[in-house]
Amino acid sequence: MGSLWGGRFEKDMDDTVKLFNASIAFDQRLYNEDIDGSVAHVKMLAEQNIISLDESEKIIDGLEVIRNKITNGEIVFNVDDEDIHMAIESRLIEQIGDAGKKLHTARSRNDQCQVDVRMYLKNEIMEIKERLFYLESVILEKAEKYHNFITVGFTHMQHAQPITLGFMFMAYFQMFKRDIERLTDTYDRMNVCPLGACALAGTTLPINRHRTAELLGFSAPTENAMDSVSDRDYSLEFLSNASISMMHLSRWAEEFVWWNSSEFSYIAIDDSYCTGSSIMPQKKNPDMAELLRGKVGRVYGDMIQLLTVMKGTPLAYNKDFQEDKEGLFDAVDTWKSSILIFANMLEKTEFKMDQIEKQFTKGFLNATDIAEHFVKIGIPFREAHSIVGQMVKVCENKNCDFNNLTDDEINSIDARITKKLLGDISLEACVNARVSFGGTAPVEVKRQIEIGRKWLDSLL
Ligand code: ARG
Repeated sequence: MGSLWGGRFEKDMDDTVKLFNASIAFDQRLYNEDIDGSVAHVKMLAEQNIISLDESEKIIDGLEVIRNKITNGEIVFNVDDEDIHMAIESRLIEQIGDAGKKLHTARSRNDQCQVDVRMYLKNEIMEIKERLFYLESVILEKAEKYHNFITVGFTHMQHAQPITLGFMFMAYFQMFKRDIERLTDTYDRMNVCPLGACALAGTTLPINRHRTAELLGFSAPTENAMDSVSDRDYSLEFLSNASISMMHLSRWAEEFVWWNSSEFSYIAIDDSYCTGSSIMPQKKNPDMAELLRGKVGRVYGDMIQLLTVMKGTPLAYNKDFQEDKEGLFDAVDTWKSSILIFANMLEKTEFKMDQIEKQFTKGFLNATDIAEHFVKIGIPFREAHSIVGQMVKVCENKNCDFNNLTDDEINSIDARITKKLLGDISLEACVNARVSFGGTAPVEVKRQIEIGRKWLDSLL
């Protein structure tokens, strides 16, 4: 029979079955990792005298020829290849003959595909971290530039308290910092080598799994063969990291959309990151921000898909597990491009302070600060809260600001209060006074930036 596993078969696979069964259309992405894994494997087999040195050299040379041919597009895969492991092994045998038939000694595709995906993901994690470092450096730059620029802080999408723009940037900085740390944790946990687990239970041949782990840059071999070929929790961890980080990006993207809206006009996104309308000549749409907001959906989908594939599967390998790759690749591609698009868009965005300032008169941004002034003269906070609440009511009726209240009006709310006691309630004074650890005052933001920069520099 045609396939390398066809010994016990009397019939070829039905054509529809071939198509349904094959993963070559997507797992060809793993060809470099598959060849790296095979090279390490045969080196170890020769060192252990399971195959001869001559055979291992022939295999390695043959694999390198195949690698070049794939890279140069000289090998075109087709459905008969089944998967990337079969595609490479069958071409090796075609090319070098008998020695090639020894490549698959003491391994199975069940461990092989897992070595490939782990190596692939390790590389991608390093690249994603690089992109997140870049995003963090753009955020730090912006935070520095705007560390003392006042803007409106919202809760429930309503004016809440004045904050500095730099402070808001540093809030996102913290989220992406945790995303990076999560990736590091995931990397460390997945950095163990399943090669040599074989089908599910190891092998009778005298292999050295520590050696292949070392050759491939893993910290150790996996402890239990059955677990090695059965679990995909490292991919799920990655997908959950991707989902969380995409959620962070989508939240900021949403802020870009409304900051860019006609009602807000807080920002000007660079032309090169916007698109026009095919019918409305005046439009400049924040499509990249909207796409970023939308892209998170596919990454959540990728995670739920794999969780669902794995649910209820018995030990050890099941073919269901072949479904672990497309969603993972999609999440890698989506996350990577999203980080870069967002970082570049952020870098090119101007904050229109004159527009932002127009909003300062709305929503009694300094109400909490006034209540805190009252606390400082000995009024319990609950009472202070109620006094300022009543002041808001009077202002709303008069359609004015706290500054426009008369001494009498204030005094009639509470006999202890005079207008003078309101103190300096300019937004600048309010922001400058929020020096509590982690607060929004420019000096605090500076401190946060400094700590953030030290952390980032330690990783670069
Ligand atoms: N292509 C398969 C996968 O990615 C690996 C092959 C294992 N298949 C098997 N029938 N044992 O999961």
